Amino acid sequence: MTAKPPSAADTARHRQLVEEIKGHNRAYYLDDAPTISDADYDALMAQLRALEAEYPDLETPDSPTQGVGAAPEGTGFRKVRHRVAMLSLGNAFSHDEVAEFVDKVRRFLGLDDETPVRLTAEPKIDGLSASLRYEGGRFVLGATRGDGSTGEDITANLRTLDDVPALLRGAPEVFEVRGEVYMKKSAFLALNERQAAAGDKTFANPRNAAAGSLRQLDSSITAARPLHFFAYAWGEVSEAESDGPDSQWGWLARLQDLGFAVNPLARTCDSLGELAEFYDDIAAQRGSLDYDIDGIVFKVDRLDWQRRLGFVSRAPRWAIAQKFPAEQAETVLEGIDIQVGRTGSLTPVARLAPVNVGGVMVANATLHNEDEVARKDVRVGDTVVVQRAGDVIPQIVRAIVGRRPADAKAYVFPETCPICGSPAPRVDGEVVRRCTGGFACKAQVVERLKHFVGRNAFDIEGLGGKHIEAFWADGLVTAPADIFFLKDRRDEIEAREGWAAQSVDNLTANIEARRTIDLDRFIFALGIRQVGQATARLLAKTYGAYGAWRVAMDAAQDRDGDAYAELVNVDGIGPSVADDLLCFLADKGNRKLVDDLAEAVNIADFAAPQDDSPFAGKTVVFTGTLEKMTRNEAKARAEALGAKVAGSVSKKTDLVIAGPGAGSKGKKAADLGLTVVDEDGWLALLAEAGD
Ligand code: IVH
Repeated sequence: MTAKPPSAADTARHRQLVEEIKGHNRAYYLDDAPTISDADYDALMAQLRALEAEYPDLETPDSPTQGVGAAPEGTGFRKVRHRVAMLSLGNAFSHDEVAEFVDKVRRFLGLDDETPVRLTAEPKIDGLSASLRYEGGRFVLGATRGDGSTGEDITANLRTLDDVPALLRGAPEVFEVRGEVYMKKSAFLALNERQAAAGDKTFANPRNAAAGSLRQLDSSITAARPLHFFAYAWGEVSEAESDGPDSQWGWLARLQDLGFAVNPLARTCDSLGELAEFYDDIAAQRGSLDYDIDGIVFKVDRLDWQRRLGFVSRAPRWAIAQKFPAEQAETVLEGIDIQVGRTGSLTPVARLAPVNVGGVMVANATLHNEDEVARKDVRVGDTVVVQRAGDVIPQIVRAIVGRRPADAKAYVFPETCPICGSPAPRVDGEVVRRCTGGFACKAQVVERLKHFVGRNAFDIEGLGGKHIEAFWADGLVTAPADIFFLKDRRDEIEAREGWAAQSVDNLTANIEARRTIDLDRFIFALGIRQVGQATARLLAKTYGAYGAWRVAMDAAQDRDGDAYAELVNVDGIGPSVADDLLCFLADKGNRKLVDDLAEAVNIADFAAPQDDSPFAGKTVVFTGTLEKMTRNEAKARAEALGAKVAGSVSKKTDLVIAGPGAGSKGKKAADLGLTVVDEDGWLALLAEAGD
C-alpha cells in the first residue's frame, strides 16, 4: 500500500499542530503552567492523529503522537517500574451515580439490600500521587505515578518532605506507601509572590507548583518548597495479607501509627445517606481548607471484598471519585490585555479585580482568542463568573449581563500588534491573529534569532538560546546579520561574565565556519511562517541561486503575473504558503534584514542531488531512534544522494534504516524481506557513497 501524499496545506497544518501541541506540552510538563484546557488539548491531539492516519508520511519522529510529552527534555529522572501498578479512579458526578456504583458493588458480590456495605470516604487531594518504598524500615525509593506502570525516580526530592519519614519502626521488610504530594494554598501564594519578586515564573495553581517543585533536578530547590504528603494507599508489602489490616480504614490507622500524615477528614459511611452527607459537608468546607481537593473518594472498606471486586482496565471496581464542580466566583473585568506570544500569536488576557476562587486569589484569566471573546461577549466593566477547574488556568465562564454598566462597549479585537504595531491578520481557517512584525517585534525577535542559529538553520555551535537572550538584551545582536559582525565587538563580549579570550575565539571561529551557507538553509533560517525545511528546500531547488530567488519573489508580488503562477505551481507550495512567504518579503523591515544578511554571508547555490550515487532513485525509510544524527539530517543526506525518503515501509522500499524502538515498521520490513541496516550500517553506506 502506498500512502497518499499530503498536500502542502496538509503538511503546513500538520507542522502547525505539532508546534502548537509541543508548546502546550512544554507549558504543561516543563513549565507546569498549562495554557489550554485538557479538553482543548485532547481535541488538538485528535486532529493531529487523524491527519497522520490519513497521511502516514507526515508522521515524523518528533510528532507528539509518537510519545509521551512528559519526559523533561534532555535531562530527566531514572525510570522506575512499579511492582504493583498505580491505578486511577472512575468518576461520578452526582449522588445518583454514587448510588449506582454501590448497587453494582452489591450485585457483583451477590449481596442483598439488607447487608450494609461500609465505604471509607476520603477527600480527593488535588496533588500528585507518589509511591514511597521502604526496605528494612528505610526509605529507599520514591517514584511518581507516571503512566501507572512506570514512573520516575524522585527519591532525593521526596526525602526533603517532612511528611516522608526516613525510618519506619515495625513495618514489614518491604513496604510501599502511596499517597498524594501537595502544596498548601497559603504556601503556594507565598511562593508565587517570592517568584514574582525575583523575576521568576509563577505557577497557575498549587498542583502545578507542587509538580514543578518535585521535578527539580536539584533537590535543594525542592527542599526550599513547602511540600506535604497524605498517605492513603499501599503497594508492594512483604507480609501475608492475613497479617495486615483487613480494611481500608484499618490501613489508614496503620499508616498513621507508622508516622504518616493521613487526611483528618476521612471517615467511614454505612449508608447512601451518609455518603451524600459527607460529600456535601466537605464540599461546603472546600474553600476554607488550606489544600485543594477536587472530589471525594469512596472505597469499599473490606479488603476481602476489594480483592473479589478487582479491576476494570486501570481502575478498581471497589472505588469511585465523586468530583466537585469547578470552583467559581464573581468579579469585575477591569480590562483586556493582549499578550503577544513568541510565535506572534495574540492572546487576550482578562484583568480582573482580584477575587478569591476556592481559596486562591485570581487576578488574571485567559480569554483564549478573538472568537471566544466575541462568543462570550464579555465587556470591560462587566461582572463576570470566573472558574478554576482542576489543573487549568482560570477561565471566564460568562458575563452577568444583568449587571452590565450602561456604557460598556463590545470589545474590539485589535488588528495590529500591540507591541510593534505591525498588522496582525487572521490566516484563513485559524482562530488566532498573528503579528507579522517578525524580527521587528520585540515579542518575537529572540525566539526568531534562536531559530536562526539553530541546528537546521545556520547551526552555529556555541551560540545557544541563553547567549542569544543576553546578546539581544545588551544590543549586541538585534538582527541576524549582527551575528556575523560579532567579531568586531569581541572586546565587549570578552568583558562579559563567563567569557574569556579563548571562548570568544571559539565563538567567532564557529560563526566563520557558517558564513557560507546553502540556499535552502538560508531560506529556512528566516523563520517565515509555513516555510519549514521541506518548503525551503523546494524553493532552493526551484530557483537554484539566491539572486534568482529574490528576483522571482519580487516579481511574484504581482499576483497576476507569471512569477506568482510559477511559485504556486511548485508541487508542495500553494497559495497559502506563497502568501506567507510573499508577505514576509514585502515587509520593508524584513527586506532590509534579508538584504543585510545576504551581504554578510555567502549563499551557496542549490546543489542538485548526485545521480551517480548508489542511492539515486532508491526509496529509503527511517524508523526508530537515530543516535548520531537527527532524523532531519539523515533525511537531508539521503536526499542529497538522490534517494527518496518515504514514511512507511512497502514492497517498493529499497532500504530500511532501523534504530532502537523500530516497532511495527521494523517488523514489516523483516516480513517483506527488505534490506534493513542499523545507524552504523547507514553511516558506512554513506561513507561508501562518498558523502
Ligand atoms: S486512591 C486504587 N485516594 O486521585 C485507587 N486516590 O484519580 C488509587 N487521589 O492517582 C487511588 N486523593 O493521585 C486515592 N484519597 C485518595 C486520593 C487519591 C487523591 C488521586 C491519586 C490518583 C487519582 C485517581
